[in-house]
Amino acid sequence: MTGKLDQKTAIITGSGGGIGKEIAFSYAREGAKIVIADFAEEAMNTTVQELREAGFEALGVKVNVADKQEVEAMVDKAAEAFGRVDILVNNAGVGDNMKAAANVEDVTWDKVMDINLNGVMYTIRKILPHFQENGGGVIVNMASITGLTGGRGGLAYTTVKHAVVGMTKNVASHYGPENIRCNAIAPAQVQTGFSASMDNVDSFGMEAATRGVNLMPKAGTVEDIANIALFFASEDSAYINGVALAADAGWSAY
Ligand SMILES: NC(=O)c1ccc[n+]([C@@H]2O[C@H](COP(=O)([O-])OP(=O)(O)OC[C@H]3O[C@@H](n4cnc5c(N)ncnc54)[C@H](O)[C@@H]3O)[C@@H](O)[C@H]2O)c1
Repeated sequence: MTGKLDQKTAIITGSGGGIGKEIAFSYAREGAKIVIADFAEEAMNTTVQELREAGFEALGVKVNVADKQEVEAMVDKAAEAFGRVDILVNNAGVGDNMKAAANVEDVTWDKVMDINLNGVMYTIRKILPHFQENGGGVIVNMASITGLTGGRGGLAYTTVKHAVVGMTKNVASHYGPENIRCNAIAPAQVQTGFSASMDNVDSFGMEAATRGVNLMPKAGTVEDIANIALFFASEDSAYINGVALAADAGWSAY
């Protein structure tokens, strides 16, 4: 049986759980070798074990994407283990506890920027020369509907996801001629551990950000998002580059 990602190797950050884990399985089912890159070591090891038990090739690399050296070592380890890397999914991310502009603390701002923005830049910067050497590659960035709209998250998270969309388009534009594609997914609400990890929530920010939530037709599933990530990673989307695709059941179309 042939798969859409046969002979490919994919690094997926934040894939010990949530959306990233589902992407890992969807890529593996299509023939890809998987690098589970997460800073939660136990979840990472469990996911690697589950993939292997299902008959797939997988490697775990413990990494904090906010740490430049660790990110660089992660790409080196993946290339060393599997010979090459073809697909990078920048999925690791954290929330901002819905802190509105007047209430945002430096510690929240810095953490969100370090992980959700610097982390994406570090991986892209490191992988590009590798992709150039290989004659191409694919990057999938996990943005958010907050990266395409104004009021649906806290200040830091909204700002950072807009930046991820900008980075996606810049990379696609500059490196598209070298057969490197870079697209982003912008999900609305997906049931994962993400929202449960919020603490010390800003009640003003939360109320403002969720004013229009009753207009969202439905929440998404991790499978919904993994389907899009597979489309972006495979040749099915060969003519698409620099796009940030809303995955929100039409919520932002209103
Ligand atoms: N769940 C949603 O509703 C939703 C909506 C829009 C966008 N997103 C985005 O999707 C992505 C995945 O979110 P999720 O819902 O699966 O979240 P999650 O919290 O379930 O999973 C995130 C994973 O990333 C890992 N991670 C966090 N910080 C890390 C770091 N510094 N280095 C390495 N790994 C790290 C965690 O250990 C975890 O395994 C995030 O970028 C998030 O912003 C989520």
